Amino acid sequence: MYSTILTIHSLVRWIALAAGVAATMAALTGSDKRTDRLGLLLMIALDVQMLLGLILYLVLSPYTSQAIEDFRAALQNPQMRFWVVEHTATMLGAVIVVHGGRVLVLKTEAAADKRTRRIVCFAIATVGMILGMPWPGLPYGRPLIRWSLG
Ligand code: HEM
Repeated sequence: MYSTILTIHSLVRWIALAAGVAATMAALTGSDKRTDRLGLLLMIALDVQMLLGLILYLVLSPYTSQAIEDFRAALQNPQMRFWVVEHTATMLGAVIVVHGGRVLVLKTEAAADKRTRRIVCFAIATVGMILGMPWPGLPYGRPLIRWSLG
């Protein structure tokens, strides 16, 4: 179960990241309709990641289970701290910014304001995802593609 959820979480990140880049580009240059569709895809992919991530965090991950037993020690270990605090906080931030962005866009009638709000929120979420990702080569790095489901 752990490796299945981890693999799906690992793969869906590419949908979330691609949607973040595409939504930001569309907000900068594309039509409102296209931007809105890509923004919706980004929000759905981030919500799926949040759900899978919380299952890992609260139930399946050996890193977080161990950290919950001794939180203070976990914060002193860079790898544990990454999973327990840094990854989770940046990614939750991205989820909140994208949801908040949709509300902010609904709250204004002016097309220019809508566009600015979309650009800012999509760009912040995309940069947050990039910063919070366990890129290979980092001390807590993970593979770019994970295939094993069992
Ligand atoms: C929003 C709440 C999120 C939480 C609570 C969360 C939590 C976690 C946890 C606990 C792990 C597993 C550590 C382990 O046991 O190995 C993990 C791995 C990972 N997460 Fe998240 N995550 C979240 C969102 C995201 C998002 C939005 C992305 C990317 C768009 C993402 C990308 C990854 C990647 C790439 C891994 C490593 C997967 C692998 O080992 O192949 N996470 N996450």
